[in-house]
Formats: sequence, C-alpha cells, structure tokens
Amino acid sequence: MKSSAPGKIILFGEHAVVYGRPALAVPVAQVSVEVEARESNRPGVWIYAPKIGLRAELRELPPDHPIGSVVTNVFATLNLPLPTDGLEINIHSTIPVAAGLGSGAAVSVALTRALAKFLQRSLSDEEVNRLVYEIEKLYHGTPSGIDNTVITYAKPVYFIKGKPGETFSVGKPFTLVIGDTGIQALTREAVADVRRQWLKDTSRFEGLFNEIAQLSLIARRSIESGRPDMLGELMDHNHWLLQEMNVSSPELDRLVHAARDAGANGAKLSGGGRGGNMIALAEKEKAEAVSQALLAAGAKQTLITEVK
Ligand code: PMV
Repeated sequence: MKSSAPGKIILFGEHAVVYGRPALAVPVAQVSVEVEARESNRPGVWIYAPKIGLRAELRELPPDHPIGSVVTNVFATLNLPLPTDGLEINIHSTIPVAAGLGSGAAVSVALTRALAKFLQRSLSDEEVNRLVYEIEKLYHGTPSGIDNTVITYAKPVYFIKGKPGETFSVGKPFTLVIGDTGIQALTREAVADVRRQWLKDTSRFEGLFNEIAQLSLIARRSIESGRPDMLGELMDHNHWLLQEMNVSSPELDRLVHAARDAGANGAKLSGGGRGGNMIALAEKEKAEAVSQALLAAGAKQTLITEVK
C-alpha cells in the first residue's frame, strides 16, 4: 500500500507563529515522500529509508525515534498490536532534509496513511494531523503545528497555533522560486534563540511579531482576491523583520538580494532561518532567470513552483 505527501514552504509568519500570530504556508508538489507498507517474509517490522541511511527493525530503534514512533502511534491509535510477522516499510523522499521544506512532517503523513491503508482502516485528515503533530514534537521540541497541517491537507493554509488550520483558495496562480543555501540549520535552535531574545526584549519582539501578523493577514487577502502581485513588497518587509530577529544569515541575505536584482518582485528567507531556504516571487517568464541568479550567488539548488 502506497501513500505520498508533498513538501511545504512557509510564505509568511515563521517564528511569529510560535507566539500566536498567523502564518501562511503552501504545499510544494515538486518534491515529495512516497511510503510503501507491505507484507514480507522477514518477521518483524522492517523500516528502510535509504536517504537517511535507516535500515532497522522497529524494536531496535530508540523509543523516541520519530519514524519508529509514527509506526507505534498508528498501531496504538487503531487499537492494534504491533505485528510480529513480516511488515516492510519503504520510505523514498526527494525532499531535502533540514531545509525548511517539511521533510519530517511529509514522512510522517505519508507513513501514517500508508500504514492505515495497509491495515484497511481509515483515518480522517484531522486524525492524521493530530498524530503527526505529536511526532513533530520529537523533531522540533515545540513546533507550532504549521508543517503537519499544510502537508496533511496539501492545500494553502492560514495557520494560528492551537487552532485548526484554515485552508484557503488561490485567486490567481503565482510562481515562486525557492533557493537552498545548502546550509542545514536546526529549526529548534533558531526558535530557542528567538525565545532568548524575546525574554530579554519582550516589547520590541512583540512589536515585530505584530507587524508580521499584519503581513500574513494582508498576504492571505491578496492571494485569495487574485492579487499575488502585492506579495513581493510584503515578502521584502517580512524578510527585514526576520533580519531584525537575527534569524537571517549572510548566505540567505545574499540569495535574497540576488533574486531581487534578477527581477524578482520580492524575496525573503523561509522557515527557521540561519540556513535552509529562501523564496522569491517572480513573474513566470522571469522565474528561470531568477533561478540562474540564485545558483550563481551560491544556491546549492533551486526549485520553481506554481502556487495554485
Ligand atoms: O524551518 P521550518 O520550515 O520547519 O519552519 C519553522 C517555522 C518556525 O515558525 C520557525 C517554527 C514553527 O514551529 O513554526
């Protein structure tokens, strides 16, 4: 039984979302995870994920291993004992790891659904989302829940922590160029660092978060009403606010500037920051030139994706 899940990218509101402000994220279908769960002759539950060098029997994994935990949680939620006869799980992913593209959440979503199918049980999207959020805590400490929500529903999401995500429609498709710095940065460290700064300088940081919240709100309206051309300026503003929070980096700033110089309408870092990805808004016909400019400025890879 196979199931797949897309990657994701945050458009607006990263970090502020941890403090109750809204954020926007969209699925990225160009990259994905595919999971197959099937019977095998080998006793036990064998998990193969070549990309991360995982080749193990479930019971050999530490109890807080995120992938092992998905398997045990799905069986527990469905009130089923873990199988002792052969179950083989194959995980194939084209989503870069630790780059802000949601690879961990996508593995969890695809694996949860593949197991449910294999067990001939159905899980609602809400149940999948809830299960995967628990696993996100193992990856990220105190995640807002935006990754699991956008990847579970595979639709653009307006997200406020602690509330069900609101999916929304795109009035007019628009093109994003995603540039990867190639630097693997841990989201939990950037989140912890923002918390330290917020504790020291709470009123300033609350002000920054409030400005970001306004940008997320206006951006959602622009996307829904078919005015994606307004997003560029909002992205530039959001990037500046993230710089103020010290979560950008010289590499991210270089890519953001290169994208703007190559004709992008706006650009910002996306996700935890310090490394990982940035995004640029570009007219469809300029996207390839922006992508080339990002590679020339040091991006390790780029993706062009249409949000629709
Ligand atoms: O680096 P990513 O794409 O997983 O995004 C992290 C987003 C934060 O707002 C920084 C953290 C969170 O849990 O929402």
